[in-house]
Amino acid sequence: MYRTHTCGELRLANIGQEITLSGWVQTNRDLGAMAFIDLRDRYGITQLVFSPEINDELYQQSRKLGREFVISVSGLVRERSSKNLNRSTGEIEIEVQKLTVLNSSKLPPFTIEDETDGGDDIRMKYRYLDLRRSPIKNNMIFRSNLAIETRKYLAAQQFVEVETPFLIKSTPEGARDFVVPSRMNPGQFYALPQSPQTFKQLLMVAGLDRYFQIVKCFRDEDLRADRQPEFTQIDCEMAFITRDQILETFEGLTKYLFKTVLDTELPDFPRMSYDEALRRFGSDKPDLRFGMEFCELTDLAKGKDFVVFDSAELVVGICAEGQANYTRKQLDELTEWVKRPQIGAKGLVYMRYNEDGTLKSSVDKFFGEEDLKAWAAKTGAKPGDLILILAGEEEKTRKQLNELRLEMGRRMGLMKPGDFKPLWVIDFPLLEWDEDAQRFFAMHHPFTSPKKDDIPRMLDGDHQTLKNLRADAYDLVINGSEIGGGSIRIHDRALQEKNFKLLGFTPEQAENQFGFLMGAFEYGAPPHGGIAFGFDRLCAVMSGQSSIRDFIAFPKNNQGRDVMIDAPAEIDGGQLEELFLEVKKAE
Ligand code: AMO
Repeated sequence: MYRTHTCGELRLANIGQEITLSGWVQTNRDLGAMAFIDLRDRYGITQLVFSPEINDELYQQSRKLGREFVISVSGLVRERSSKNLNRSTGEIEIEVQKLTVLNSSKLPPFTIEDETDGGDDIRMKYRYLDLRRSPIKNNMIFRSNLAIETRKYLAAQQFVEVETPFLIKSTPEGARDFVVPSRMNPGQFYALPQSPQTFKQLLMVAGLDRYFQIVKCFRDEDLRADRQPEFTQIDCEMAFITRDQILETFEGLTKYLFKTVLDTELPDFPRMSYDEALRRFGSDKPDLRFGMEFCELTDLAKGKDFVVFDSAELVVGICAEGQANYTRKQLDELTEWVKRPQIGAKGLVYMRYNEDGTLKSSVDKFFGEEDLKAWAAKTGAKPGDLILILAGEEEKTRKQLNELRLEMGRRMGLMKPGDFKPLWVIDFPLLEWDEDAQRFFAMHHPFTSPKKDDIPRMLDGDHQTLKNLRADAYDLVINGSEIGGGSIRIHDRALQEKNFKLLGFTPEQAENQFGFLMGAFEYGAPPHGGIAFGFDRLCAVMSGQSSIRDFIAFPKNNQGRDVMIDAPAEIDGGQLEELFLEVKKAE
């Protein structure tokens, strides 16, 4: 038997017992008169003691054990003379009577500690060693618990877990597809699903009523901290359901997960329309952990010969509470920050509302005290506050001020760990006009239904009307991160055809790509809708982290590579031939 207990289990109550443990050598300290080994497994660390006085042969053997050797020991549990109360097993140690080396180990390329000396690349190359470290290992356990609790909640609500295929035809969700050549069908390709969207709708036509799946999705898009080319969704669909019932069900799931996994009670989620979110926060995923709401100053700012404001479509500011003591140097630095290409503002106007009641702005040449007082009144600024203002084209300026608001939130320490602020963003536009492509794109996806009241306008609206159509689409946002998105779907062939037409599909293209779905709508498709949560993002946000990578056992790097297995990789000529493929070498 390899073990009677785990390395995280033994306590004072076990003193005097003969036990066997197995695990990895975390540290080996030889003090001459005694040697101490910290033995680690998934459950914890237990101290082992070897003494030349008790058993010199064992002591000599123990000195040869390097870091990460795999050993099994039997011995006696005894009380420690100097206790380590930071460790669950810190009051006991094992006086070793038998030692078996199960495997040796090369010296690991980085330390297997909570704080490691290994950089990102080396940790990814040796991910199996990285996963031995507690923070990453705990993330995996956290993720597992979240998946198990998700299944429990949804099963209790009559959801059926159904697996949908990975080798499919392209489903447009806005990203590029990963494709797989078919050997048996020369020149033809499968696409990996960007989501199981059409399949879950077909399951509703099939009468399954409530579907869910914790499922891999594949999207060939540019990678960021919160995006991976393969990621996981909690994907759900419901039939005979209204939007509000869907929101209630998944607000319920979110609250349940926070309660059971984090022991945190979430309040009811506020709902905010897309328009309101953009107006108040410049973003469709506002971080509500702090205020600093947008305040429009266009009317007050114009007509004072300051050409930047006079020529702007929008002048909009935020009030950073208690920041009037920002130095000139800090403000210059902040100005440079908004001018970086990633943000793209042309400049930053500020106004200090000093503690002594005086007002000082960076545009004093154009604006007198009365003007500045009006700004203060409009933004609700008090003595001690700092007003930051951007101006320019409406949409861009809102986006830029959103970035500045988030940056100020970070600098002012307003994003507190353990603080969770969820909300539903609702009533998204149905269509989004792309100026470059000169065509509409679906803001969510082509299967999303317009709001009922907007259907007549969708059928015969002009360009402007179409731009203003609202969809029955919603996002779940937590702390500024888009955790989930979904919609009520079109379940009527004619309306679906119309939507494809608006999206620039010819009837033939629509039939060719989605004939199977529109065909299914003709066989009694029930009204239905659903949602998908980004499971990796949910894990990260619940853990207060911004990168999803450490919640994925074997993630890809920013170039989409798995550096451990070295993928993607070339395939050999025979394989290419079999697939009827020729590879053009990159220049
Ligand atoms: P959507 O495209 O909004 O909707 O995706 C749902 C959620 O999946 C997460 N997500 C990602 N997570 C990590 N890496 C990525 N590359 C990535 N892309 C998306 C986000 C997002 O909110 N079929 C629809 C859902 C529906 O309508 O029911 C869909 O896939 O958290």
